[in-house]
Amino acid sequence: MIEIAPSILSADFTRLGEQIKTVERAGASLLHVDVMDGRFVPNITVGLPVVKALSRATQLPIDAHLMIVEPGRYAEQFVKAGAQMVSIHIEADPHAHRTLSAIRSAGGLAGIALNPATPLSALDEAVKFADYVLVMSVNPGFGGQEFIPASLDKVRRLRKMIDERGLKTRIEIDGGIDSDNIAEVTSAGAEIIVSGSAIFGAPDPAIALRELREATVLWV
Ligand code: DX5
Ligand code: ZN
Repeated sequence: MIEIAPSILSADFTRLGEQIKTVERAGASLLHVDVMDGRFVPNITVGLPVVKALSRATQLPIDAHLMIVEPGRYAEQFVKAGAQMVSIHIEADPHAHRTLSAIRSAGGLAGIALNPATPLSALDEAVKFADYVLVMSVNPGFGGQEFIPASLDKVRRLRKMIDERGLKTRIEIDGGIDSDNIAEVTSAGAEIIVSGSAIFGAPDPAIALRELREATVLWV
């Protein structure tokens, strides 16, 4: 099933509750929350208190994308704060098995995120410990960047790796997705589609979300 996960990074933070209701009513499946620490990525965003507040304000499952160093120190706390899905960057964690297990033990779905230049071989052992893999199709840190075309082939190869191993791991893609390329990424094998500026940067986020859905349906 294809799910669209609006990223609140591009939302209007002065009326976040209202913007979330808008995408919830328009058929969003998840809410993607980008957690940045100014160290793993050159930007600082939001953390545990915001996830806690969001979990009270929406019925949508919260998908926390941790772009932080030492994610093992915080991952479990994000599940306790109300995130149903928590992803950590493999580049940031030499103890990914421990962190992914902690997310699962706390009751969350555990994800591994990969930067554009990180090879799929980095997943070789780790993939079986994850519920989903998040393929970054931009360099993490900011919304509104251009999709890196090589990500398509990476998603195809990852799909093949997962299928050949008989795993149930889902593929999420994040960065530069809009109604022009969503069909290509879903055809390549991505199932959870993050989109920030194409939704919240549009004059009407509800219409933008429907356009993304329609652009997907044409191809799948
Ligand atoms: C980037 C974040 C993304 C971002 C996507 O580091 O991980 O989730 O919000 O935004 P767009 O869709 O504008 O590229
Ligand atoms: Zn993200």
